[in-house]
Amino acid sequence: MFSPIEWHIAANGPVVRMLDQTRLPHEVVWVDCPDHQTVAKGIKDLWVRGAPAIGIAAAMGLALGARAIKAGSYDDFVRQLKPIHDTLAATRPTAVNLFWALNRMNTVVRIHKDRTVEEIKERLIQEARAVHEEDIRRNVAMGGHGARLIHAGDTILTHCNTGALATGGHGTALGVIFSAWESGKRIKVLVDETRPVLQGSRLTMWELQQNKIPATLITDSMAGAFMKKGGIRLCLVGADRIAANGDTANKIGTYSVAVLARAHKIPFYVAAPTSTIDFSIAHGDQIPIEERNPDEVTNVFGKVRIAPANVEVANPAFDVTPAKYITGIITEQGIFKPGELKRKLGGKK
Ligand code: MRU
Repeated sequence: MFSPIEWHIAANGPVVRMLDQTRLPHEVVWVDCPDHQTVAKGIKDLWVRGAPAIGIAAAMGLALGARAIKAGSYDDFVRQLKPIHDTLAATRPTAVNLFWALNRMNTVVRIHKDRTVEEIKERLIQEARAVHEEDIRRNVAMGGHGARLIHAGDTILTHCNTGALATGGHGTALGVIFSAWESGKRIKVLVDETRPVLQGSRLTMWELQQNKIPATLITDSMAGAFMKKGGIRLCLVGADRIAANGDTANKIGTYSVAVLARAHKIPFYVAAPTSTIDFSIAHGDQIPIEERNPDEVTNVFGKVRIAPANVEVANPAFDVTPAKYITGIITEQGIFKPGELKRKLGGKK
């Protein structure tokens, strides 16, 4: 199973190895992060991105940081671990998987209070690897559930990148498409380019091409016209954080797709593991939205400037789609209506 991130044992000790996704599709370059600061930089600078993959990177980053601590006591270890945790937690605010994974790591530290520091470090490495492996299992299960919604001959519109690149492997929304394809359903994918960072054109098109799945790239502003023309059977996107009521934060532009889908009576599904559901947040307006560097909007690939100098720019990386526009949420535990999440999954994460 292809994964964009791994806990790798290099000559000088363990590293977090990640595919630098900022260089795709031109180059396939793997980066070895020897310490938690480099992992944090990798998350912030989008070498690794996509909610589940960010969570895995944070867990591995914490395990790497913990390994380097020299502490004589449990309390000393916990004191030194705090700034490592905080550095990783400060990288990207929207994807809840980051905080979910760090909380899992904190729990490991707490419940092994009576162990030696060296044993706790080992447990943290095991937990980070478990976060990775479980994500793959969840995605494959999600793919199986979601594939039931897809029929041979369907054209599916997707936004951003939700494939193996965005996760531990297989993917969420794109994982559903992969599962449908693997089960023999001949389908087509319409891919929003996903301005400003172009995860659709650079990453989703690359993954679909690798898997030989027919796909057409469109600019984000073309989605409505294609829906009006007819032929799109389903919209399928991922999520960075789902509130308890089903409101869903995902890549900027997702909200527009959902409203357009409703106007054209096209089902709009979100695919996400339960680790992306934040039951502590009642509504989507409480989800923190990351504001990124204006250069992402004024420049293409950080190289070609496409706006005059000194223009005012807004660059929210995510938007929130109200639950009322979402037909269903595909998780590893099945497909739910947004309003069913709390009752059927609350507390069962
Ligand atoms: O800024 P990114 O590339 O991390 O944003 C990614 C998305 O919005 C994805 O759609 C989401 O994380 C789901 S990934 C399985």
